[in-house]
Formats: sequence, structure tokens, C-alpha cells
Amino acid sequence: MATSHSTSTPLLDDFELDDREHEPDTRNRGKWRASQRPVPSTDRRTLLLLIFASFAAVLSIALNLLNLRPVPETSKAPNPTKLKYPNPYIGLEHAVLPTDIPPAKPILNTPLLLAQVNRSAPAQVYPQTPKWDSTFGMIYSEDREVVVDSEVSTIAQFRALDFGMESCVLTLEIPSPNIADAEGLSLPYKAVTIAPTATLSLEIYTLAASDDPIIPATLSWKTRPERVNLLSTFTFNALQTEKDGALLRSDAFDCPARSVLTFEMAFRESCASCRLRFLQDHKPPRLGLYIMQHPGTAKTAR
Ligand SMILES: *[C@@H]1O[C@H](CO)[C@@H](O)[C@H](O)[C@H]1NC(C)=O
Repeated sequence: MATSHSTSTPLLDDFELDDREHEPDTRNRGKWRASQRPVPSTDRRTLLLLIFASFAAVLSIALNLLNLRPVPETSKAPNPTKLKYPNPYIGLEHAVLPTDIPPAKPILNTPLLLAQVNRSAPAQVYPQTPKWDSTFGMIYSEDREVVVDSEVSTIAQFRALDFGMESCVLTLEIPSPNIADAEGLSLPYKAVTIAPTATLSLEIYTLAASDDPIIPATLSWKTRPERVNLLSTFTFNALQTEKDGALLRSDAFDCPARSVLTFEMAFRESCASCRLRFLQDHKPPRLGLYIMQHPGTAKTAR
């Protein structure tokens, strides 16, 4: 009986004996005595555990190596710039709104991109990254240039975002130099070049729609989106605009929420001396090209 008991659980026996003989400091001695044994079962268990752990490690390395195989092209994540713009107002069209609320005020939407393309230099890219190095770091301002002449057009791109503001009017505003801005400064610094001193016709084309915004670094006459239709012709007199300013508006058009809207401002090629040039300035009084978004629902769903 005693021998069979000691072979089945030798370690426990050992501790029990030690604990009974000496009260304090017996655990350390018990351990010391256990380690004196030739191959105790705990060591065998540790060895088994070690072998198992090594096996698991090798297996996980093998699995990882298997996953390193080249991923097929179709299962790659799409380019983030090509993802559809998410709808921030999911289900809002189902909300029941009171009927007696006044219509929302129009929203001013400034272009995300303003860039030139040159008919005479079809591959030339005109990147605009206006910046100045201040004492507290580099500042990238929004002062982008609008240049239109017989060979250069300016392309403007907008994104319509707001819910239920899907009726748009493209607007070109040139303030009168006789008025002052909010800080009381007179306006000669908002310089506008208009030539010749005659009545000019600035043509505004709608360009081909696309879900992808234009990448400024690759935009040239060759790569520009094609013209879809003539949206409006802004007719203004150079002398009168230089004196009184001008507020030129297109007809209203549909601008579905989240759509990208692209326009080109151009003069006819035949008008060799035609020229319009200024620096976009959003501070009132505004100088520039922008969209006014009015309440409405676009009929052409996307
Ligand atoms: C457009 O390209 C022509 C030919 O290279 C050049 O003479 C002209 O200065 C360019 N226009 C602008 C505004 O850069």
C-alpha cells in the first residue's frame, strides 16, 4: 500500500511529511528536496508544455507565412479617394417636418479647386499652393488665382453637401473699389484686371460629372474633363465693373447632395485681348467665384 501510494503522488507525500516535521521554513526545503529527484513528473510536464509551446509557435509562423502569398488584385481595398462620399443624413428624407417652418437661408459654397489649363501648352500643369512662411509656421492660404484669357481657362470644382439644398446658382462677385471692407480698408488691394475696356462675354461650361475630385497635380488642358454644356454666359462691361463692381449669376441648376460639380470659365478663342484676372478672396466684400445653394430637391437622383 505504502509503495503504490508513493509512486502515484510522490511530490505531495514529500510536502506532507516536511510540513508535519518542521513548522516554519518547510516549503523551501520541500522544493529543494523535490529538485534532487532524477526526473520528477513536474519537469516532464514542463518539458511537454515547452514542446507544445514550441509547436504552437512554429505553427503560427507557418500560418503567417501562408498568408504572405500575393493577394489577388480584386480583393484589395479600393482607393480611398475613389470611395463614394458617405451620406451624413441617412434617413433624414423620411423625417416628418412641420410645414410652417420658413425656407432655409441659402448657403455659400466656395470651390475646393481652382486651377488653370492652357490651350497653347496642353501638357502644362499649373499647381496653386499659395503659402507663406510666418514666424509661427507655414501658412497655406486660400488665395487662389482666377485667370481667364483667350488661351487659358480656369477650372473650378465644388462639392454640394448639405441636405435639401440642391438648387444651385453659380455666382461671380466683383466688389466695387469704392466700398470698404469690414476692417475699414478701401479695396484697391482686391485688384481685378479686366481687359479690354469693352463689354466682355465670359463663358461658363459645365464639365463632365464624376464622383472623383480632380487631382490638381495632374490637371492640364489634355487631362481636363470634357465640356458637357454651356451653363451661362456672364456679360459685363469692363469700365462699369471697375467702377461699380458686378454680381453675375447663372441660371439655377440641380446639385444633388454629395455630388462633385465642375465648371470651366473661358473666353472665346476669337477674343485675343480678353482677359480677367484676380485673386479669390472670401472675406467680405467677397471677390470670387462661388455657388449659392438654395433649398430644393434635385430631380436627377444619383
Ligand atoms: C500658355 O501657354 C503659352 C505657350 O506656352 C504661353 O506663352 C502663355 O504664357 C501661357 N499662359 C499662361 C497664363 O501661363
